[in-house]
Amino acid sequence: MPTEPTRVSLTDDGPVLVHGPVEIELPDGRRVRSDRPVTAVCTCRRTRRPPFCDTSHRTRVREEERP
Ligand code: FES
Repeated sequence: MPTEPTRVSLTDDGPVLVHGPVEIELPDGRRVRSDRPVTAVCTCRRTRRPPFCDTSHRTRVREEERP
């Protein structure tokens, strides 16, 4: 039975959008599941809710980017 491929959308300056349920494996091996219709995965590392985007990419400056 054919299945539809998972759609992943890249954004210009924000998260990666994963359409459909997703299980994300973290660097330490833990796994986080999301059953949301679309999950925004942080790529900027500024989020306070890793691995999910909390829109911090719009405003916050990374600690290492501060003068
Ligand atoms: S991509 Fe949105 S907080 Fe990182």
